[in-house]
Amino acid sequence: GVRLGILTSGGDAQGMNAAVRSTARSAIVLGAVPYAIREGWYGAVEGGDLIHELKWGDLSNTISKGGTIIGTARSDEFRERSGMMKAVENLIQNGIDRLVSIGGDGTLSGTEELRQLWPELVAELVKQGRITADQAEAHPNLMVVGLVGSIDNDMTGTDMTIGADSALNRIVLALDQLSSTAASHQRTFVVEVMGRNCGYLALMSAVAGGSDYVLIPEMPPTAGWEDDMCKKLSEGRKHGRRDSIVIVAEGARDREGNPITASYVAEAIEERTKESARVTILGHIQRGGSPSAYDRWMPTLLGYAAAKEAIGAAPGDGAKVLGVRYNRIARLDLTKAVADTRHVRKLIEAGEYDKAVASRGSSFTD
Ligand code: F6P
Repeated sequence: GVRLGILTSGGDAQGMNAAVRSTARSAIVLGAVPYAIREGWYGAVEGGDLIHELKWGDLSNTISKGGTIIGTARSDEFRERSGMMKAVENLIQNGIDRLVSIGGDGTLSGTEELRQLWPELVAELVKQGRITADQAEAHPNLMVVGLVGSIDNDMTGTDMTIGADSALNRIVLALDQLSSTAASHQRTFVVEVMGRNCGYLALMSAVAGGSDYVLIPEMPPTAGWEDDMCKKLSEGRKHGRRDSIVIVAEGARDREGNPITASYVAEAIEERTKESARVTILGHIQRGGSPSAYDRWMPTLLGYAAAKEAIGAAPGDGAKVLGVRYNRIARLDLTKAVADTRHVRKLIEAGEYDKAVASRGSSFTD
């Protein structure tokens, strides 16, 4: 039957296993043979044991596990043409020309780059005698379906990325825990959360955690914000609030584009309020551990749709990304989704904040 390669690449995210499990098992149900490409693109470049068939039983007890059981990596070699050549060679030697690629925008744009270069690289491999003309003829194109696995929720065109809900829950749990110690001392905690240049985790955790102040890249504060923040914190104290929490997105910037760090925020608070502030950087705790219920069922539905889409694809079809829109599965054009995501990032860097926010969600093929 048709062989379907599955890989997870870039930073891991909770729910990637649910996506791998569902894609692989759906492929089996649909009459195809799923193949794991282990350790992300590194596995495609290295080949050997890193590319192997996935059996139904290999996926047992994986839906509740964090991380990705097939491994991930950030491969430098894949970025070079010689690395891509090796990846194409290994995939073709394994009879694989359909991929479900699970990762963030770096992973997905790398996959798209490979798809575009595939015919050219195949021709070169034949010339070098690394594959036969028959093999080349049997695999003229790479067919690609992407799933967005990233805790950052930073992909334009999908309401939720795989892992964002679990990370958000992890942050909210931490905020609840910090609030009791904060309340005991009447202290302010400044909490740095992940998200790269996206403020989703910071903003939503601030809302869900009932926090006092939040700093996100999409809405840099105007000059003098330190005074405004401290005024709000002091007012809270006056009204009997004992636990104050300020959330800082790791990508938070001021209007000049300078990073706003959690330690800077804590110092600003101590200086102005004469109260002690403490910094907590949640770090990779946000990305680890068991996925939430949402990050199990959503990737399960997406995995089925991805397997179906990839198995049904015809050579030369454009790459798709499957995401979630209005609680329904949405099919996006991969090139456009990645380009739109980059565009939003550029707008933020250029200080065009309103345009950036308005552009999010614009790549729908509804
Ligand atoms: O993209 C996911 C993410 O966790 C970001 O939120 C964070 O900035 C980055 O990855 C950390 O990367 P690494 O795991 O390589 O330290």
